[in-house]
Amino acid sequence: MIKIPVNAPLLNGNEKKYLNKCISDSFVSSSGPFVKKFEKKFAKFIGKKYAVSVSNGTVALQIAYECLNIKKKDEVILPSFTIISCILPIIKSGGVPVLVDSNIDDWNINVNEIKKKITTKTKCIIVPHLYGLPKEIDKIKKICKKKKIKIIEDTAEAIGLEYKGKMCGSYGDLSTFSFYANKHITTGEGGMICTDNKSYYDKCRYLRNLCFNNQRRFKHYDIGYNARFTNIQSALGLAQLEQINKFIKKKISIGEFYNKKIKANKSFVKPILEKNETKNIYWVYGLLIKNKKLKLEKVRDLFKKNGIETRNFFWPLHLQPILNKMGYFKNQKFKNAEYLGKKGFYIPSGLGLKINQQRIIVKFINKFFD
Ligand SMILES: Cc1ncc(COP(=O)(O)O)c(C=O)c1O
Repeated sequence: MIKIPVNAPLLNGNEKKYLNKCISDSFVSSSGPFVKKFEKKFAKFIGKKYAVSVSNGTVALQIAYECLNIKKKDEVILPSFTIISCILPIIKSGGVPVLVDSNIDDWNINVNEIKKKITTKTKCIIVPHLYGLPKEIDKIKKICKKKKIKIIEDTAEAIGLEYKGKMCGSYGDLSTFSFYANKHITTGEGGMICTDNKSYYDKCRYLRNLCFNNQRRFKHYDIGYNARFTNIQSALGLAQLEQINKFIKKKISIGEFYNKKIKANKSFVKPILEKNETKNIYWVYGLLIKNKKLKLEKVRDLFKKNGIETRNFFWPLHLQPILNKMGYFKNQKFKNAEYLGKKGFYIPSGLGLKINQQRIIVKFINKFFD
């Protein structure tokens, strides 16, 4: 039986108070005062003019992508090592996904490889910041500016991570966020799109709400989504955002505790402490199996038998069965993405994790793996 979940959130700020207000005011849907308040506060926190809340991080990517008017056969660059959410808008709209390998040390997209893949057909780069360390988004921005390529900065895993004095999520033409329960702030499910561009902002709001327009309700001129975000979710989001600095500190202290206590353990490669002058904030605490005799599923099984939940790393996009079946990425190979997908998993590091639970985990690791 699982005794220590891989990701328990922490909900002990103003969450209850704000939720009670939603109920006492009978504002539960998307038309409630917390929605605007949360969007405004979030935009300010990230350092962008506008924020549009949506129902999750996957639809945030979809809607952000649709703002860019990318045509069929246009090329879009993204890493192979990321969640499938990043590629969905490209394949749904007939764009051409161009994959790039990741770095072996920080697990993020490799900038030199991006440069090699840019052609005259490249219209956009989707840049996720993964597992607690930022991508060198300033360098990518420089390249993109010269070549008129748009950036969607996928900041789902990096809310509150600062890079070179600015928040991750403040660099892209559009940036997207997720508030799923394992993110730095959670609303259960939820997402956000940030931008400085008024026309993108208007389009995001339009697409989010079924492309309703002001002329005649229920008469539509475009295909949109119901990706609305509720007052209840926004109440949670606002209460969570109030605590973001504390949450980031806690994430760092969880990571540093593991670093110290399993430092000598030779079975696993541990996360690097910093990259590009930025300290790791350990969105999750990932491990890569180093010992060739250890098999990932067997290792995870042993954790499970000892009551500790773990999760696999992403599976590379070029090896996704459905994408291969659709004819994508035949004979393509990305060595590092495959290594990360085959060897990586993460151990409990949610904000609700207690120190005595962490002690149990490190004791288990050092007893069973040397
Ligand atoms: C990098 C990245 N992008 C996008 C998403 C999708 O977010 P959601 O689960 O809210 O749809 C996730 C979710 O974990 C993610 O890690």
